[in-house]
Amino acid sequence: MTEDAAVRRLVEALTLEEAARLVSGTTDPTGRATGYLAGVDRLEVPPLCLVDGPLGVRIPGESATAFPAPIALAATFDAELAREHGVALGRETRAAGADALLAPGTNLIRVPQGGRNFEYFAEDPVLSAATAASVVEGIESADVIATPKHYVANSQETNRATVSAEVDERALRELYLPSFRAAVAAGAGSVMSAYNRVNGTRMSDHRRLLTDVLKDEWGFDGYVVSDWYGTEGAVDAAAAGLDVEMPGVPMTSEGEESGNGDDEADDPIPPEIARGMPDQETCEPFDEALPAAVRDGSLPRERLDDMAARVLRTMDRAGVLDGDRSEPDVDTDANRRTAVEVATRGSVLLKNDDALPLSTDADVALVGPAVDEAVLGGGGSSETTPETSTTPREGLVARADGNVTVAPGHPPVEGISMFDFLGDGEGSAGPVDTDDTTDPVDTGDTTDPVDAADEGSAVDVDAAIAAAEAADVAVVVVRDTTTEALDRDGLGLPGRQDELIEAVAAAADRTVVAIAASGPVELPWRDAVDAVLFNWYPGQVHGDALAALLYGDVDPGGRLPVTFAPASAYPTADRRRFPGVDGRVSHDEGVFVGYRWFDARDLEPTYPFGHGRSYAEFEYRDAALDVATGGDAGGAAVTVTVENVADRDGREVVQTYVRPPRVAGVERPVREFAGAESVAVAAGETETVTIRLDELAFSRYDPEEGWTVDPGEYVVEVGRSSRDARIELTVER
Ligand code: NOJ
Repeated sequence: MTEDAAVRRLVEALTLEEAARLVSGTTDPTGRATGYLAGVDRLEVPPLCLVDGPLGVRIPGESATAFPAPIALAATFDAELAREHGVALGRETRAAGADALLAPGTNLIRVPQGGRNFEYFAEDPVLSAATAASVVEGIESADVIATPKHYVANSQETNRATVSAEVDERALRELYLPSFRAAVAAGAGSVMSAYNRVNGTRMSDHRRLLTDVLKDEWGFDGYVVSDWYGTEGAVDAAAAGLDVEMPGVPMTSEGEESGNGDDEADDPIPPEIARGMPDQETCEPFDEALPAAVRDGSLPRERLDDMAARVLRTMDRAGVLDGDRSEPDVDTDANRRTAVEVATRGSVLLKNDDALPLSTDADVALVGPAVDEAVLGGGGSSETTPETSTTPREGLVARADGNVTVAPGHPPVEGISMFDFLGDGEGSAGPVDTDDTTDPVDTGDTTDPVDAADEGSAVDVDAAIAAAEAADVAVVVVRDTTTEALDRDGLGLPGRQDELIEAVAAAADRTVVAIAASGPVELPWRDAVDAVLFNWYPGQVHGDALAALLYGDVDPGGRLPVTFAPASAYPTADRRRFPGVDGRVSHDEGVFVGYRWFDARDLEPTYPFGHGRSYAEFEYRDAALDVATGGDAGGAAVTVTVENVADRDGREVVQTYVRPPRVAGVERPVREFAGAESVAVAAGETETVTIRLDELAFSRYDPEEGWTVDPGEYVVEVGRSSRDARIELTVER
């Protein structure tokens, strides 16, 4: 029997109630899954278990590889590595006995202080789409259903459940939709609808975006699942194109939600977190509402059958229906190596005045609040608990031949989590008053500057300064803190970390700052330090990756997937655009998000999109552009030779940007990222890379005409960042 025939037969056999139950979330009897569909016993349709990502497999109380944050993956600009990362995630999901992973998060990064930016990829749609597609392919290759989320324009946490993103069609098509379209084309079996509204309509009810665009235009034949408590009524959502409602069960009076292991919340939810939480009162379980709606004619039976068919079809493709799927195959060591690869290749060397790599026998003062923790991620549904982790102290001590003197100089910056306020049942620490972390506490306890890696070093600033003075180099490990349901309050490092860095930089011969953070941060001290290494949230391998990078065992392969600038320089500094006024978030910057804004306004960012240094040095030559390879689709291929002129091996990320011709009456970005290739080049060697630009690299979206290529001369920049073109090629279209 063909796949479709089998699914059709099952759908025909479903009673009205069974069909509605099949698409309604309910409680996982084992309490493990975050989302659960019970299946239909009578027809031997098994249950479907959905678990969270995207930083790793989240099952409360169980461990999994805590991978670096997805924004670090995007910073590798490497689709092949993204696929590997997806395979690892998929296999761990299978091994955990789950069927669907609620990942990747592929919202475009529009607001630099967005509380979930670490879960997403980039401010650029081409990079975001390429990364999302590869992760999806990897996850699905393990017979696991990938769930790109949150469709669409879920760019902020503040009021995420209620705000309306007021965004025009061109910006939707050019910026916000491409990564979902790519994820669907790559075979995602499921898409999660966002909490927010788009142009006034709640995404779970958005017929045009769910049915007309996603399903009819892009041919998506999997299921759309709501975000948890992200619906408002059942019948309108089902009619608009929502297929599965989650979690389908109310939070109990104890604060327990399906499968999340939540415990009684003993503290009131602070208003800033509450503003990011959905209102479960508006939800109406599908299984309660839909049978009656079909009976009274307000929902066609065909729609309910289509919803059921989409779930069954997706289950069938992943081998869930007949159990015909690959064996779970997890190699924990291999996944750990993938995590190291992502963490090192995604780390961005923002600045380096000959301070790095460190020589192995250098005496190091290891300073900063994050020296004794592996920074795993932000708070919320992506929190993953690893079996093991390495801290910066452990990583450096294991790698160094010189003395490592640890003197934090600042109290720990506690990670915050929305679960601290909702109650998590995982022994979470309770509400964290971030103000508590703002005072470097002088305990009067001194740390012997020559005592390597002593346990329990004090948070004495003087000790940190003394250690920095005595050492050859000071390494300051700092961090930010973020959680789902809350945006960052500006782009500054929390607490008094900036002051600590300044004090250390004044005392040390050389100062290296290593930052573990979710997205752009302001670096007011950057002229006073010698090197800045940005590690995003590196996950469980923090210490290993940091040591390998600092000592030059690997070249920092990351380039910025987001522009770094002061918060006041981004378009979202206007409060109409963020966090919005009267429930509406104006997107009237249009397509001018991220570097497109800085280019159009001729503003100098602190560090531009695509920026990142290498320990090696590269020269570019022999670039050529071949339009024939693009075929009828109108794409092109850029070939360029890269020579490593340094005496050490390195990794280069060759980037291409397209500068479109000026067309009267049409505002276009100065340049748009079109594709990149990450390539290892040995000392003194050359490598030739080919980067394929697809048709969209030359197109803009015209609300009347659709995708349009304006005739004229296009300049293709080949270079090291959006502000560092090494070669320009031209092509007529
Ligand atoms: C809400 C989050 O927005 C979503 O990303 C997550 O998958 C669900 N909760 C389930 O935990």
